[in-house]
Amino acid sequence: MDPSLRSQLRDSLKARSDAEGWRALIAQHGTPLLVLDPYRVVERCRLLKSHLRGFGLHYAVKTLPHPAVLRAVAASGCGFDVTARAELDLLGKLGLPIDRCINTNPIKKLTDIDRAYLAGVRTFVVDNPLEAQKFAGLPADINILVRLAFPNPSAKSGLSVKFGVDPADAELVVKHVLATGVRFAGFSFHVDGRGTKPESYGSALRGTLDLVTHIAETLGVTTDVIEIGGGLPVSLRDPRSTIDKISDIVDETLGDRRDEFTLLADPGRFLAADAMTLLTGVAGSAVRGGRLWHYLDDGIDDVHPPILSLREILEGPIDCEPVVLAGPTCDGADVFACDYPMPTLGVGDVVVSPMMGAYPAVASTQFNVVSATKIVEV
Ligand SMILES: Cc1ncc(COP(=O)(O)O)c(C=O)c1O
Repeated sequence: MDPSLRSQLRDSLKARSDAEGWRALIAQHGTPLLVLDPYRVVERCRLLKSHLRGFGLHYAVKTLPHPAVLRAVAASGCGFDVTARAELDLLGKLGLPIDRCINTNPIKKLTDIDRAYLAGVRTFVVDNPLEAQKFAGLPADINILVRLAFPNPSAKSGLSVKFGVDPADAELVVKHVLATGVRFAGFSFHVDGRGTKPESYGSALRGTLDLVTHIAETLGVTTDVIEIGGGLPVSLRDPRSTIDKISDIVDETLGDRRDEFTLLADPGRFLAADAMTLLTGVAGSAVRGGRLWHYLDDGIDDVHPPILSLREILEGPIDCEPVVLAGPTCDGADVFACDYPMPTLGVGDVVVSPMMGAYPAVASTQFNVVSATKIVEV
């Protein structure tokens, strides 16, 4: 982490004025601890609504299916993107509005379609003829979105390889949807996250608009809905700049055609990442091969969040030295930062990783029977 980002982050964490409160939480619960602030989700919903003008937002429940987050999403007037039966069951149990859900999983079991319909879901995504045929004979008030693939070579997750139909082959899938008797509503896509370039939204949207024109000409079919998926990146340095660029590109690409469509998006990390902060304690330290290692009492899977010491957040800049930061398990891969600049740390000192609300909590390891990290809501 470069020094200017570190100081920007330190100031913003201190300004949140929850850093002092963390000390009290640690005294009460110990570490590791995930501190969840659902009000941040409300703020992010508000921010996104002001950028994606007129879009209906469906929070991708898989990102962080915590009840407080789901309630914050519902209270912000947003809906839910559900991909699994358990997510729908959870929303039902919490009494949250199922009629605001869309099911974006392109591959579904027949029983899951029936159950979702009975619970109140009316919009489903398909991406191939076999999946479309699963809706044959089902009620005519079902709306189908055909998921398109726009592979993004700069993205790491490759979701457009796993899901979605090439726009050149999408007409056939639309025909299959029409043959089932349910309603063809429109198209969806998901620009892969992490590493996404804002222009990816422009090219995917242009490809979708071309297809809309094409199927109107060839099949005489109108497209009502365009759903642009999630993948909106979270940026530490300047949280507004990337979303500003994306919304400008979306506005420019839609141009005069905007009013033809109901516009939807299903963001996950953009709404949840900022809501959770991980507090971990130093369990032990060692010098190995001339390098200083600190072993924390929680690991961080597959993400590279910034890491600061609680002391520097509370007291201001402290000189740093490069260290290795490792998690608590006996897994050799449980090393999440090398040559990472940190102030002097002793056993029991606390380090802070913000932006931990998206996926880490749901992806956390059970290796060495490490139980899931406790989440406390503030
Ligand atoms: C269809 C779809 N929508 C939304 C999301 C959420 O993505 P993100 O958290 O990057 O916004 C995903 C993630 O895999 C997805 O596959």
